[in-house]
Amino acid sequence: MAKVRHESAWYPLESGETVLDGLLRQGVPVPHACRAGACQSCLMRAVSGPVPEAAQVGLKDTLRARGYFLACACRPQEGTALEVAGAAELRVPARVVDLESLSADVLAVRLELEAPLDHRAGQYVTVVRADGLARSYSLASLPREGQLELHVRLVPGGAMSGWFARDVRPGERVHVQGPAGDCFYVPGQPEAPLLLAGTGTGLAPLYGILRDALESGHTGSIHLFHGARDPGGLYRVDALRALAERHPNFRYRPIVLAGGGGE
Ligand SMILES: Cc1cc2nc3c(=O)[nH]c(=O)nc-3n(C[C@H](O)[C@H](O)[C@H](O)COP(=O)(O)OP(=O)(O)OC[C@H]3O[C@@H](n4cnc5c(N)ncnc54)[C@H](O)[C@@H]3O)c2cc1C
Ligand code: FES
Repeated sequence: MAKVRHESAWYPLESGETVLDGLLRQGVPVPHACRAGACQSCLMRAVSGPVPEAAQVGLKDTLRARGYFLACACRPQEGTALEVAGAAELRVPARVVDLESLSADVLAVRLELEAPLDHRAGQYVTVVRADGLARSYSLASLPREGQLELHVRLVPGGAMSGWFARDVRPGERVHVQGPAGDCFYVPGQPEAPLLLAGTGTGLAPLYGILRDALESGHTGSIHLFHGARDPGGLYRVDALRALAERHPNFRYRPIVLAGGGGE
C-alpha cells in the first residue's frame, strides 16, 4: 500500500489509485478538472518521497525541478510514502473586469492580474474559484493588453461556465494558475506560412496567436479557418474581417456546416 501525507495527516491509497482520487475519496479538496493529465489544474508539489515519472509528463522543466506533479497522473509505487503540498504559490490573484457576450453561447471574460504572470497569447491558464473549482481556458489576449481575455463557452449545467454567465459581475475575484501550453507565436521566421484552424472557442488561442504574429511583423501568408455548426457559432467576425482588410497576407475563412454566413 502507498500512502500520502498532506497537511500533517496520512492518507492510504488503494492499489493503483492516483493521489487525486485517493485524496478526494478521503475528503481532501484538491482542485481538478479533466482527470486526464491535460489541464494541469491538479498540480501538487512533492515535499518528500518519489514522484513517478508519468506524473510529470508535459510539465515545464522549472516545475519538474521544484517537485511539481499532476495528482491525477500520480500513482505512487506500492510501499512508498509521498508527502505533498498544494500549488497555491503558483497562483496569482485576479479580478474580473469585464464580461462580454460574443455569441449566443460564448462569453469573453477579461481578468486583471494583481501580480505579474509571464504568458504568451495562445497558452492556457487555469482559473481557480475561491471554493477550489478549477477550469482551464486559452488566452486570446496579448500580454501588452494588460488583461487576460478568455472565451468561455456556456456548457449546459457547467459549473464554471454557468457561474461566469449567471453569477459573476465585474469585481469578482479568482486566482489564475499557469500559464501552460506550447501553442504560441515564435518570432524568427517572419516569412513562414501560418495555418490556424479551430472550431468554437478553439478560436481563442488562434485570435491571440494571429494578432501576435501580425503585430510582430509577420509577412508570410496567414490562413485562419474558424468553424461552427451555424452562423450563430461564429464570433469576432467583424474584427477578423477588419484585420484581413488591413493585412494583405492574412486570409480569414469562417466555415459553417449549415445556414450560410460562412463558406
Ligand atoms: C487546455 C484546455 C484549454 C481549454 N480552453 C477552453 C477555452 O478557451 N474555452 C472554453 O470554453 N473551454 C475551454 N476548455 C474547457 C474548460 O476548461 C471547461 O472544461 C469547460 O468550460 C466546461 O467547464 P464547466 O465547469 O462549465 O462544465 P462542467 O461542470 O465541467 O461540465 C458540465 C457538463 O458538461 C459536460 N461538458 C464539459 N465540457 C463540455 C464541452 N466542451 N462540450 C460539451 N459538454 C461538455 C460535462 O461532461 C458535464 O456533463 C479548455 C480545457 C482545457 C483542458
Ligand atoms: S485534473 Fe487535469 S491534469 Fe489533472
